Amino acid sequence: MNAAEQIRLENIADTQHEIFALLKQRYSPRTFKKKPLKKDHLEQLFEAVRWSASSNNLQPWRFIYAEKGTEAYNKIYNCFSDFNKSWTKNAPVLMLSAYKEKTKEGKENFHALHDLGLSLGQMTVQAQYLGIALHHMAGVDWEKAQKVFQVPEGFHISTAIALGYYGGDLEDLPEDLQDQETAKRKRIPIKEFAFRENWNPEA
Ligand SMILES: Cc1cc2nc3c(=O)[nH]c(=O)nc-3n(C[C@H](O)[C@H](O)[C@H](O)COP(=O)(O)O)c2cc1C
Repeated sequence: MNAAEQIRLENIADTQHEIFALLKQRYSPRTFKKKPLKKDHLEQLFEAVRWSASSNNLQPWRFIYAEKGTEAYNKIYNCFSDFNKSWTKNAPVLMLSAYKEKTKEGKENFHALHDLGLSLGQMTVQAQYLGIALHHMAGVDWEKAQKVFQVPEGFHISTAIALGYYGGDLEDLPEDLQDQETAKRKRIPIKEFAFRENWNPEA
């Protein structure tokens, strides 16, 4: 077993209850195999998004993506926070996610961000099935990204995503991030967020 495979094994979720294997195995790496994403795999990721649920079936999600070596890839990368710039160059594909802010009637779509997140959940599980890891990021200058990509009014850039096949080497990362790659994964217990019958004020 090589080091990358060992890290993948160690990152399998230590669940309190049995769950679907793809969910247990998913995590957000900062290293990726140095291999471009297959075109049909990329298409399958967007197909998974396509069949996501959304409020009134408005499908408010939008994405801009680019492959390493292209000008557009550098344009996305240049919108990242310094922290995210320190590791995202390992990813063969970078993406920006956005949502449409209004309904067809011109009212604010309060659930658009929910639906974008849900669609990214579907993309994440489909990706996992293909051996592809998604690393979502809030650390992106969305206003800059809106300008750089001339995103039309009425759409709001939300997050960025670095994606690629699981793999790569720890040495691809700055030293402080190498430890994080193998750090124990932490979660709050179910009782702190799922309340039976009454809101739990102590949670
Ligand atoms: C909306 C969102 C924003 C995030 N922003 C960043 C980010 O800017 N930089 C980063 O390195 N990781 C970021 N992450 C990754 C989280 O830190 C990670 O999902 C969390 O620590 C749980 O780890 P896991 O995904 O490996 O289970 C983000 C994740 C989400 C869902």
